[in-house]
Amino acid sequence: MEVPLNLKNTENARRAAPNMKCLADFVVEKEIGEGSFSTVYHAREKEGEKREIALKVCLKKLILKNKMVTYIHREKEALALLSREENAHPGVVTLFATFQDAESLYFVLSYAKYGDLVSLIQKQPDAKLKVDDARYYAANLLSALEHIHKLGIIHRDVKADNLLVKHDGRILLTDFGSSKFLKDYEKDTNSNESSVPSRRRSFVGTAFFVTPEVLTLYFFLTGNYPFDDLSEYLVFKRIQDVLYRFSDDFPDENARDFIEKVLVKEQKERLTSDQMKRHQFFESMDFENLQEIEPPRIY
Ligand code: ADE
Repeated sequence: MEVPLNLKNTENARRAAPNMKCLADFVVEKEIGEGSFSTVYHAREKEGEKREIALKVCLKKLILKNKMVTYIHREKEALALLSREENAHPGVVTLFATFQDAESLYFVLSYAKYGDLVSLIQKQPDAKLKVDDARYYAANLLSALEHIHKLGIIHRDVKADNLLVKHDGRILLTDFGSSKFLKDYEKDTNSNESSVPSRRRSFVGTAFFVTPEVLTLYFFLTGNYPFDDLSEYLVFKRIQDVLYRFSDDFPDENARDFIEKVLVKEQKERLTSDQMKRHQFFESMDFENLQEIEPPRIY
């Protein structure tokens, strides 16, 4: 894999402070992911533990041109809070360091060897998961979401693309670029007396996955998006009318009941996260000891 020039040029990477990391501290191995405004590389620390890491590189030119500065700040602030030792959760990606040079901003993140869950699911027989495997990932996702919410962070773009599988088969929630601190979110949504809540005016995320835990579960079990349609407009209409169906071969009655009880328009009628954990679908899951459960081997 050809490594771009700016990553070879360690002369550009000057330390601003003695503890500050710089590009010269890492051996960059290969590109492992590409977003609209960033590229992720697999890299390794040169010194110390020589940990494998994921290096997310955001080109400043692109960030400015596309007015993404706020998103980068949010991602850094959310990850910095979640990566403090006292806030660490095994299901959330860790930010080890950030640094910059003239062209780029760099995020040093925990590395997930097997990549994202969508790619892995698409490689499975029938391009979907077995019910037990779906249950394992859904339970771990629920636990990670509950944790970040307790710390006052909402992710706002939960989907299988943003769940990464580590060397040991456990998952990490990543990509906090759309996240928000709950206090800011509540301020925004309460600041206007108009009859259209501002949360509806400022949609972020991916249309297919607006009700995160549940839609992700639906995707795990079917390989499809519940509100899929021919255009984004039609997808939004389906979401507004909560218009989705289960195919005749939907694999599990408890999963179906769970989805039906969470995929409800009125928030106060939906299951709370405690009720979700107590639902029959998760009966076999010990949420207090998820780390003790052997992860699925889908890679
Ligand atoms: N792609 C995006 N982030 C990643 C990470 N932390 N590990 C592996 N692949 C990734």
